[in-house]
Amino acid sequence: MKVGVLGAGSMGIGIAQIAAGFGHEVILCDNNAASMERSIQGLTKILHRLVEKGRITTEYVRDLLGRIQQTSLINEFNDCDIVIEAIVENLAVKKSVFQKMEDVVSDTCILATNTSSLSVASIAAACQKPERVIGVHFFNPAPLMKLVEIIPAIQTSAEVLKKSRDLIDSWQKVTVLAKDTPGFIVNRVARPFYGESLRILEEGIADVATIDWAMTELAGFRMGPFTLMDYIGNDVNYIVTETVFTAFYFDPRYKPAFTQKRLSEAGYLGRKTGRGYYNYAEGATNPKANQDQALGQQIVDRVIVMLINEAADALFWNVASAEDIDLAMTKGVNYPKGLLAWADEWGIDKCVKLMEELRETYHEDRYRCSPLLLRMARQGDMFFEEDV
Ligand code: NAI
Repeated sequence: MKVGVLGAGSMGIGIAQIAAGFGHEVILCDNNAASMERSIQGLTKILHRLVEKGRITTEYVRDLLGRIQQTSLINEFNDCDIVIEAIVENLAVKKSVFQKMEDVVSDTCILATNTSSLSVASIAAACQKPERVIGVHFFNPAPLMKLVEIIPAIQTSAEVLKKSRDLIDSWQKVTVLAKDTPGFIVNRVARPFYGESLRILEEGIADVATIDWAMTELAGFRMGPFTLMDYIGNDVNYIVTETVFTAFYFDPRYKPAFTQKRLSEAGYLGRKTGRGYYNYAEGATNPKANQDQALGQQIVDRVIVMLINEAADALFWNVASAEDIDLAMTKGVNYPKGLLAWADEWGIDKCVKLMEELRETYHEDRYRCSPLLLRMARQGDMFFEEDV
């Protein structure tokens, strides 16, 4: 299979590396020569570092890079079997590019988008053959992150779904199937990790260091929410939140926090600008966590139950299967456990009780318990069969 990749930014170059690494001829297209050069140089450097560490050979690097043909012309996609688009996250631009690609590719070529937040159906609708369009959502950095969300639009044919999924499975990725809904699985289910932590901060219940400590030390996450937001970039994380909030018709569950907006406006974007929730300047002092166990547990209970509620609601709305929701969060964003398995471990009753306490405290729709959790609590159900 010959693979086209449109856009040689952080995602496109990673996807090209994967495809070439699995022996495909790759056509990598970008209309910005500087961006292409930066990415190819970056990839070459990473590969040479792996050679120095003895993990791969120079021949392997030569062959892999030799399989990536660089171009600025989409006409070069003419004999590709699939093109994966990873350009700017803008619907109008993506639609126009899909139309142009359709003029040059073969009738059977699959057109995939790596969009993280746009509707795949609307991108497909721009095409004459919308049944050939599908979402394949990789995570950053693509060569390292195991998860790929596969998102068929309502127009996508069963054959295109099967072929794309088989191809990405053959790249040793963990693929999960997600409905074409805002944020798909990961970017929807993960919202409370940031949003509820920000609420706890804004209410003055705990500071960033304490919340990060609770979520890492007590809940077992690799990074606390504020460290992670600083890592992702507060501008990027804010935009994803705002996009999901808007796409859900302003459901208060996804409401962005002013704290994050102000940080973003101030240019406190996180690591990349040297300052975010934390100060990354050399010699800077940052606040220390108040390691109060009871406070830590209160933070963990609130953030985790909101995550569980979101995961349960994604299942309730048939966004994905229970297995895929848990796989997505453990393989896509390295959660220590699947959220639905976590719910089973806590007991559904406890989840419902915590949600109802929050609802009673705040009287906000944000804290409504998923109907699925309520039903399961009534029936004494679990998400997964108990191990025997
Ligand atoms: P990026 O800004 O690093 O790269 C985009 C590349 O596309 C640039 O090199 C640009 O020159 C090129 N480009 C823009 N318009 C073009 C056109 N008309 N023709 C050819 N090349 C064009 O962006 P990034 O981060 O790689 O994201 C790409 C897509 O992947 C977006 O849809 C984004 O939402 C999605 N995504 C991003 C993730 C991330 O963590 N960065 C994770 C998962 C998905």
